[in-house]
Amino acid sequence: MCGIVGYIGPRDCGPLLLDGLRRLEYRGYDSAGIALIDQGKINVRRAEGKLRNLEAAFYREPMPGKVGIGHTRWATHGRPCEENAHPHRAGSVVVVHNGIIENHLALKKELQSRGRVFESDTDTEIIAHLIDEALAAPQGGGHPLHAALRMALARLEGAYAIVALSEEHPDVIVAARAHSPLVVGLADGEQFAASDVPAVMEHTRNFVFLDDGDTAVLYADRVDFFDGEGAAAVREPKRINWDPVSAEKQGYKHFMLKEIHEQPARIADTLRGRIDLENGNVELGEVDLPEGFIRDQLKHVQVVACGTSYHSGLVGRYLMESLARVHTSVDLASEFRYASPVVDENTLCIAISQSGETADTLAALREARRNGARVVAICNVMESTIARESDFVIYTHAGPEIGVASTKAFTTQLTALFLLAVWVGRQRGTIDGARGQALLTEARHIPSVIEGLVSNDEIYLQIAKDFSHARSFLFLGRGINYPIALEGALKLKEISYIHAEGYASGEMKHGPIALIDDDFPIVVVAPRSKTYEKTFSNLEEVKARGGRVIAVATEGDTDIERHADVVLRVPHVSEELQPLVTVIPLQLLSYYIADFKGTDVDQPRNLAKSVTVE
Ligand code: G6P
Repeated sequence: MCGIVGYIGPRDCGPLLLDGLRRLEYRGYDSAGIALIDQGKINVRRAEGKLRNLEAAFYREPMPGKVGIGHTRWATHGRPCEENAHPHRAGSVVVVHNGIIENHLALKKELQSRGRVFESDTDTEIIAHLIDEALAAPQGGGHPLHAALRMALARLEGAYAIVALSEEHPDVIVAARAHSPLVVGLADGEQFAASDVPAVMEHTRNFVFLDDGDTAVLYADRVDFFDGEGAAAVREPKRINWDPVSAEKQGYKHFMLKEIHEQPARIADTLRGRIDLENGNVELGEVDLPEGFIRDQLKHVQVVACGTSYHSGLVGRYLMESLARVHTSVDLASEFRYASPVVDENTLCIAISQSGETADTLAALREARRNGARVVAICNVMESTIARESDFVIYTHAGPEIGVASTKAFTTQLTALFLLAVWVGRQRGTIDGARGQALLTEARHIPSVIEGLVSNDEIYLQIAKDFSHARSFLFLGRGINYPIALEGALKLKEISYIHAEGYASGEMKHGPIALIDDDFPIVVVAPRSKTYEKTFSNLEEVKARGGRVIAVATEGDTDIERHADVVLRVPHVSEELQPLVTVIPLQLLSYYIADFKGTDVDQPRNLAKSVTVE
C-alpha cells in the first residue's frame, strides 16, 4: 500500500503535495518523493525514511512547479531506500504507482533487451519505461500522453493506481486505476489526483472515484475521463462532507474497523501473483531453498511467533500437517528460545511477525538458525529486522496496520501460510495438481466471501448491547478452528478489557464447565467440519447448564439454532480455508463490544503495536 498525490493548476504545488503526502502517510512511510515540472523540465526529489526527511530536503532547497506528483511508499518490490523511492523516471516520463505489477520480471527483461537501463529494483520503473517508449509513437487519438499511458497499461498485469507526467507534455497529468484506489479532485482552475480523499480535501470537496479500468487526463481547467475501452466516459463527482480526521479512516470510526473491512483487498493482494492455477501450484520464488530440500530433506517445521501471529502459526500447523504431511511444532517465541529446541538442518523454521521487529521472535529465529535450521519469515514490513535476518521472506501485503489489535495482518498471514503449505505439499507429492487447483480456486473466492461478512455488521450492535456487561467470556473451537477461538478471546481482551479465555472445545469438560452460568457467555466456533458433531455435543453440555451461547456457524445449519442464543453465519468453505472466514465475526464482535463500552479501540491501554523488548 502506498499513497499517491498529483496536482495541476496555478499554484506552486510542492508544499501542497507534501501536505497531501502527510495525510496519506498512514498508507506507507518507508520512503517518499515528489516530481515537479518547472519550465519544461522535471525535477525529482526523493528521500528514504519518514516523510519528514523529504520535507527537510525540500525546504532546504524548495523546488518550484505548478504541475507535480508525489508518493509515500510501503515497499513491496525492492527494499526501502532512495533508489527505490518513487517517482520513477524513464526519459521524459515520471511515474508514481501504488499496487503490484505481476508480470514485471518478464517486462523488465523485454525492456532491457531493447536497451532500456533500470535504476531501481521496483516493478514501477517498468511503467515509466513503457510509457516513455510508447510516447515515441503514440497510437490512438486524443492527448499523446494519454495514448501512451493506455499502450503501457495494455501490457500490465496486476493491480495499480498510476499517475504520470511528461516533460514533453507539461499541460497534463494522466492517471489510471485497476484494483488500487484512486480519486480525482475537481476544483475551479486546478485539479488533483490522490489515493484517498483526505490528501487533498482541504482544497476541494468534489471527487470522482475512478472505476477499475478507468483513466483520466487532468488539465488545469478540466478533467477528461475514459473507461476501460478508452472511450470518453461521464464520471459524476460526489461531494464529500466528512471531517478530515474521519476521512483518513475513510469514514470509519476507528482504524481497526477500517482494517477489518480492508481484509478482502489485502488477502487478494497477498494471493496476487502467487497462484499458478493451471498447474494447481503456488509460486513462491522468494523461498529459494536448495533443490530437493522440501522433498527429500525436510523432516520438521518449527513455527515461532508471538500474540496474534502465534495464533496464525497454530493454524499453520494444521495446514502444514494436513496438506503437506510434515510434522510441525508451534512455539511462543518467548518460550522457544529458553527451551531446548530440537531443530537442526532438516528443520524449516517459520518466523511469523507483522512488524518484523518483535524482540522475542527475533531471538527465537536467531536460535533456530544457530541450530542449523533455515528460516522463512512471514512478515508485513519490508526490510524489518526479522525480514533481514531470515533466509527467505514471504511478505504479506496487508499494508500498514494502525490499530493495535491485529486483524488484516492476521488474515494475510493465514493466506501466506495456506500458500506455503500448498507449495510444500505439491513438492512432497501429498497434494496432486487437481487438489491444488481446487484449493487455490477456492482461495481466490475468499475475498468475496469475506466482503459479504464485513458488509453485514448490524447484528453486532445488538450483541454488544446484550453481552457487553458480562465480566468474562469463554471461546471454544476445535481442530483448525481452535486457534480461532484463541484469537477471538485475545481480540476481546485486548480492546474491550473483558476477560476472555480460548479453549479447545473438547477440554471444556476438564475445567471451564464449572464456571458456566448465565453471566458467562460462551462463543463457539462451530462451522460444518469433520468435528462438527463433537462440538455440537459440547454445546449441549453448555446449554444444559444455563449458559448463553453465541455460535459462529455455517449458513443453512438449522440444528445449531436449538442450542445457540445468537448465530453468526458464515458461508461454507473447505476446512483449510475456514479460519479466514470464521475469524471475521469474532473480530467484529470484539470491535462492537469495545466500541459500545467506549474503550480506546485503536490504542488500548498498556499495549503496543510493536514489542521490541523481551
Ligand atoms: C504485540 C501486538 C500484537 C501482535 C504481537 C506480535 O503484542 O499488540 O498485535 O500480535 O505484538 O507482533 P508481531 O509484529 O511480531 O506480529
